[in-house]
Order: sequence, then C-alpha cells, then structure tokens
Amino acid sequence: MLAIRDLRVSVGALELVHIERLEIPEGRRVGLVGESGSGKSITAMSIAGLQPREARLAGSVRFAGRELVGLSDGDMARVRGARIGFIPQDPTRALNPTTRVGPQVAEALRLNTPLGRGAIRARVLELFAQVRLPEPAALYHRYPHQISGGQQQRVLIAMAIAARPALLVADEPTTALDVTVQNEILRLILELSRAERMAMLFVSHELGVVRAVCDDIGVVYGGRLVEFAPAGAIAARPRHRYTEALIGANPGLPAGDEIPRQSGRRFTVIDGSVPAAGRFPAGCRFRNRCRHATAACETDPPIAPGEAGAWVKCWHPVAAGGPP
Ligand SMILES: Nc1ncnc2c1ncn2[C@@H]1O[C@H](COP(=O)(O)OP(=O)(O)O)[C@@H](O)[C@H]1O
Ligand code: SF4
Ligand SMILES: [Mg+2]
Repeated sequence: MLAIRDLRVSVGALELVHIERLEIPEGRRVGLVGESGSGKSITAMSIAGLQPREARLAGSVRFAGRELVGLSDGDMARVRGARIGFIPQDPTRALNPTTRVGPQVAEALRLNTPLGRGAIRARVLELFAQVRLPEPAALYHRYPHQISGGQQQRVLIAMAIAARPALLVADEPTTALDVTVQNEILRLILELSRAERMAMLFVSHELGVVRAVCDDIGVVYGGRLVEFAPAGAIAARPRHRYTEALIGANPGLPAGDEIPRQSGRRFTVIDGSVPAAGRFPAGCRFRNRCRHATAACETDPPIAPGEAGAWVKCWHPVAAGGPP
C-alpha cells in the first residue's frame, strides 16, 4: 500500500535522509527504530507530508497507487486528512491552545469527510469514547491546557483516526508523556490499528516497544535504513553490525510481545555517538564506530535480501541463522 524507493530528504545541500526502500502492506504495522538524530522523524514526517518547510523531497513515495513526492501542499493535505493519520511526539505543541478540543477534531472531520454539522458532533463524541476520554460531552468544551498530557494525546489520536485513514503514522507518540500513561496510550494505538485495520508506521527509540507493537522493524542509522526484518527476527537474530551493537548495549530486552515498561533511556551504543547529519564517513555510515569495519566498508554496502522479506545493508553481516 505504501512503497518507498530512494526517498531523499535534503535541506540545502545537506541530505538528511536517504531511504532506499521501505514497504508497508495494507494493515501491517512497521516500526522504525534508531538512536536520536538518526532521521526517524524526518522520514515519518516526509511520508505524511509534514516535513520542515525548508526540506526538499526526491525519489518516490507511492501510497495507494498515487505518487506523493511532488504533490502540491493542497493535494498532500487532502491525502493526509483523508487517508494518512499522524500522531505527533509532543501533544502539548500539536493542539491549538486557543480553541476548545472538540471543535478542533470537528474541524478535521469537516475538512476531510462529507459529514454534516450534527453528524460531525456525534462522530467527535464517538471518537472521544473510542479513545477512552472520560466524559466526552464535557471534555468537548475544554481547552487543551485544561486537560492532561495523556488526554491531549488521546484527542490527537481521535483526530488522526477521525477520517478512518488507511495508514497511521506515529512518531514517538508516548515519549513526551508521563511514564504512568505511556503504556495505556501504546495499547490504545495498537488496539485501534487492529480494530480499524489501519496500517501503521510507528517510530520509537526503544526497540522493546517497537517489537511489541509492530510486525516488521526497520533499523535507521545516519539517515539510512540499514536493516529490515520481521519484528521477532530483529532482536533474536540481528544481522547488521549496528543492530547487533544496539541489542548488545541494551540487555534485558523482554521476550515476547508484551509492551515493556518504557525506560526513557536513549539507546546507548558502544564507542562514540551519532555524528550530525553531513558528518558521516563515506561508504557505510556506521564505519567509524564498527568493530568489524574493513576497507570494503569505505564503499556503500548493497542491500542483501534474506528470508521472509528481510534484508541487510552491510558488507560483513552476522551470519544468517548464526548464533543469536
Ligand atoms: N529542519 C532541519 N534542518 C536541518 N537539519 C535538520 C532539520 N530537522 C532535522 N535535522 C537533522 O536531521 C537529522 C535527523 O533528525 P530527526 O529525523 O529529527 O532524527 P530522530 O527523529 O531520529 O531523532 C538530525 O541530524 C537533525 O539534526
Ligand atoms: S558495512 Fe562494514 S562498517 Fe558497516 S556495519 Fe557492516 S561491517 Fe560495519
Ligand atoms: Mg524524532
């Protein structure tokens, strides 16, 4: 349903992201995981047409048979409103502080559905109940500052799913929230994506969370997708040397698909930190931090396909089916 080919996002001469390929089939949940600054948000926002104004897109993002790269702002807004829902990282900055929350969701419905006034109000109340906001009718008239951060995020989730989109894009939807409500919100998003059969692109810096929520996982480093595999395989049998390091540095990853308590920790990886965009070495971008680097790694590694749609972009990957 969504297929990316060589999506490049640049600001001036600086290329922030180059995603060679990524597919999200209908109804499937795909996660992006990586350290802070690796390009997850730029990728997620670009798919939803919400990239920073100064950013330029090249390459191809096909969504439901339509090319999104190159659409006018107006056309992109229509696609997003009706077919792609976006849940932001920080709910406190995403809502309009001067407008009551009910009418904000109603406005999204007015723009993106054929519903009339009365039906819109009823649908907002139904959505508020669906995202389990208490007392929907009273909450309708509250301003954002009169409700909690978790409730604000529920309002934004209601807004994102209001027009029953085919794809939900969620960029670290719980990172800014109080730790006590993080898992409730994650469960809600997971439950809604199942109930409404929405495909999802879910971004997080916590591998355990992505694994619990998603069917497939893409690992991002330095603005590149370096490995892609079914969620269970990534943690059990990482193949890219960056993924391997990521898992080695984060022991105690719980087994199974129970949503783990979020630690709030950033991934810490052996030796050094992610360089700023534009400061990566040529060839494999992980080269200056990789214990397995050789002269070959000075050339950009090709994508090597594995089992079940998995692939890895590394000259010296962990052997397939090798020791976990
Ligand atoms: N508007 C912008 N102009 C220039 N660089 C940017 C802009 N937005 C983000 N970046 C840079 O792009 C890289 C990826 O950022 P981002 O996608 O926010 O990472 P993540 O979400 O994985 O933490 C970072 O190096 C960041 O500094
Ligand atoms: S391509 Fe080379 S430098 Fe990059 S992760 Fe693989 S082994 Fe390490
Ligand atoms: Mg981000």
